[in-house]
Amino acid sequence: MSGAREQKGVTLWFTGLPCSGKSAVADVVAERLRASSLKVERLDGDVVRQDLTRDLGFSKADRDENIRRVTFVSKLLTRNGVAVLTSFISPFREMRDRARREIGNFMEIYVKCPVEVCMKRDVKGMYQKALRGEIKEFTGVSDPYEEPERPELVLETDKETLEESVNRVLSKARELGYL
Ligand code: ADX
Repeated sequence: MSGAREQKGVTLWFTGLPCSGKSAVADVVAERLRASSLKVERLDGDVVRQDLTRDLGFSKADRDENIRRVTFVSKLLTRNGVAVLTSFISPFREMRDRARREIGNFMEIYVKCPVEVCMKRDVKGMYQKALRGEIKEFTGVSDPYEEPERPELVLETDKETLEESVNRVLSKARELGYL
């Protein structure tokens, strides 16, 4: 891994269903990169939606706007040599492809997990609420998720351990010359 002075910026873009494991993997990857003295920023859906995009909901237009703002921030950080780790459902292919074009140094990581497994995890009880109809337009239940067609990496979080997923992200980023 290269030192801080010659650090190349990159955005590691984690996409997937709610409870697929995006944040869990991204958090540990971020810790590892910080431990190697790299500049790192985490942009996480739940956090960003309490601040930068707190005015937005979950209609297609609002999700697109959420991702548009996050793309802008990621682009600025990436061009300043930061390793950016984003974790957003980012369900629409068109907006992810746009992020790729805007940001440049970009690695799309599809955090793949069957919806039944995500539902069992249901960390915040949101799938249960969505199934009862208490949350509308919930991704995986009543709103679409468009799978990536050519992601740089696919993590299968129902089949591999967190440690394996983390190591796979780091190896792929090194292989692509981003770390
Ligand atoms: S995105 O679609 O715009 O990329 P984002 O990742 O920012 O979504 O936010 C997802 C988080 O918002 C989920 O972790 C969940 O806690 C919460 N949430 C609330 N309502 C919904 C909904 N209708 N669909 C998906 N997530 C929702």
